[in-house]
Amino acid sequence: MGVTRREALDTLLDRFALPDGDDPLDLPALFGTGVPVVLEIGFGAGTSTLAMAETDPGTGVLGADVHTPGVATLLLGLDQRGLSNVRVLVGDGRQLLAQRIAPASLAGVRVYFPDPWPKGRHHKRRLVDAGFAALVADRLAPGGLLHCATDWEPYAEQMIAVLAAEPGLVLAGEGSRERPDWRPVTRYEARGLERGHRVTDLLARRPAA
Ligand SMILES: C[S@@+](CC[C@H](N)C(=O)[O-])C[C@H]1O[C@@H](n2cnc3c(N)ncnc32)[C@H](O)[C@@H]1O
Repeated sequence: MGVTRREALDTLLDRFALPDGDDPLDLPALFGTGVPVVLEIGFGAGTSTLAMAETDPGTGVLGADVHTPGVATLLLGLDQRGLSNVRVLVGDGRQLLAQRIAPASLAGVRVYFPDPWPKGRHHKRRLVDAGFAALVADRLAPGGLLHCATDWEPYAEQMIAVLAAEPGLVLAGEGSRERPDWRPVTRYEARGLERGHRVTDLLARRPAA
């Protein structure tokens, strides 16, 4: 990590970081009462986080990633664009969802190009599995949307299987697996596209009560 990004972690993280601790997050206190909140897990360099937060300043965005150089890049982008509707966790997004997000409290969960773990013995490390689908279904508010994208076709098949099997979610998007125009092309995705990978976008909704 270069000097600029190291300095960004030192000087900007406090401004954008989630409050420490294990307690459930007070989302209205963080973003404002009535503001819809989405969680993006594994934002990488924050391409989608920045673009979507800028396009939709009325939505609060929680971003989680374990990779500090990417976090630093996101922090620099947030500062340069003057965005105040994003809060960042340097850590495990699945754990955040399980421990600090109340049931039925999120408008959306975004998982764009999670690590594919192509080797069979590593499949258990994949983020989007049956347990994750059940957890997301519980944390989404009625009508809330889970949006996953991958350029690894076997992982896309796994995602479709677990989302279709989760009783708390309904696959949405009218069968389309194309990138919706409101999701920007991410940095990781751009590299896959250059290599000729096919991208699958999946939308799954928690039915409205
Ligand atoms: C393949 S990259 C994709 C990054 C970005 N979404 C994109 O499309 O450019 C996957 C990202 O997920 C992050 N990651 C992996 N497991 C995670 C977890 N449990 N919680 C948060 N981030 C995670 C990695 O650090 C990495 O930045």
